[in-house]
Amino acid sequence: MAEPPAPLSGQEVGSFAYLTMKDRTPQILTKVIDTLHRHKSEFFEKHGEEGLEAEKKAISLLSKLRNELQTDKPIIPLVEKFADTDLWNQYLDYQQGLLSEAEGKPSWFQSPWLFVECYMYRRIHEAIIQSPPIDDFDVFRESKDQNFFESQESVIALCVHLQEVKRTVEDLDEDQLKREFCQLLQISLWGNKCDLSLSGGESSSQKTNVMSSLEDFKPFILVNDTEHLWSLLSKCKKTREKASTVRVDIVLDNSGFELITDLVLADFLLFSELATEIHFYGKTIPWFVSDTTKRDFNWLIEQVKQSNHKWMSKSGVDWGNYVQTGRWVYLDHLFWTLPHEYCAMPQIAPDLYAELQKACLILFKGDLNYRKLTRDRKWEFTVPFHQALSGFHPAPLCSLRTLKAEIQVGLQPGLGEQLTASDPSWLTTGKYGIVQFDGPL
Ligand code: F6P
Ligand code: MG
Repeated sequence: MAEPPAPLSGQEVGSFAYLTMKDRTPQILTKVIDTLHRHKSEFFEKHGEEGLEAEKKAISLLSKLRNELQTDKPIIPLVEKFADTDLWNQYLDYQQGLLSEAEGKPSWFQSPWLFVECYMYRRIHEAIIQSPPIDDFDVFRESKDQNFFESQESVIALCVHLQEVKRTVEDLDEDQLKREFCQLLQISLWGNKCDLSLSGGESSSQKTNVMSSLEDFKPFILVNDTEHLWSLLSKCKKTREKASTVRVDIVLDNSGFELITDLVLADFLLFSELATEIHFYGKTIPWFVSDTTKRDFNWLIEQVKQSNHKWMSKSGVDWGNYVQTGRWVYLDHLFWTLPHEYCAMPQIAPDLYAELQKACLILFKGDLNYRKLTRDRKWEFTVPFHQALSGFHPAPLCSLRTLKAEIQVGLQPGLGEQLTASDPSWLTTGKYGIVQFDGPL
């Protein structure tokens, strides 16, 4: 296989990677420190003096981290023993091995952006686990929960719509069912606008009704392979033997409103019989501010269930039942919070790769998943998605992503250049989206 292009990195002054490392990540670290400060009395009430000591320790570790980052210090090995510590330190050795003696050590601005950005979130986690008894504190929980509460109106509108479709699904013909599928897929795509790491942890909830905006958003979908998804899923439905499984896997991204849009889509896939089982993959540690952990997944379903709104709580009850009966399965795996490109999965996490191979379709939500799928490299815009995946094909897969990093493949010739001329920040504002499929039909 030909050598892939160079990775994106903070070396290029002015690039989005550079600006993220220079401005956004220190801002996120400052917010984390502030969150710990604000919870001081809670730590004291729970753990007494020990809680206060722990808070101080975590803050000093995080301040040190912020200083290392801002002064472009060498990346240091992780010290706290955790299930993935060795894998991280091996990866650091691997990055070191790529450098000549003159180039020195991997560092925050010189090394691949994907690596150092992931490493920062892993170091935040290290600071917390090194500070018992507050070692299970999720520094991003508050903002994730807030995102959900601030999106209430949109959540209600979505649940009302979902329940309406559910009640009438028997009467829908093939075309109407397809139209519903396309709508809910687009809602899940635009749900990805709501991540909190792009906004430096500031509120990024959904306050307007997305459903009524879908038509206006359509021109901003740069690659739209929805037809492929529909034909794949309808083929699976038609050829499915009685009592056999059609599994759709969703590699989740952000909690809050985006997760709601994913659950609504997953619910539709079940009751329309396009799938019989959904596997969701979340993160084992707090990640990129708003990513979904097991606690977030369960918490959100519980909140929806407890709503005073009839159709919202009905949705929550249905979702809880799916989990209980095993039609929805939540899984986490350490691999999702490692810095590796996805083409390394067969070597690094063969068990996960084998699991994904059982799916009829895998949906990868969000920008970071796209960066890992395409190896976060400086590909030409017209390079085929299949090529950028570099051998990662566990099953037919599709990325649903709004563009928030300077990487995009599989565009029609000329489109990238045209967008650069008309809207110079098109790659990073989340205004554009893709539904990009790879796999045999
Ligand atoms: O910090 C920037 C970034 O890595 C971008 O790739 C993107 O804006 C964000 O973090 C993560 O976005 P998402 O939640 O869609 O994966
Ligand atoms: Mg995210």
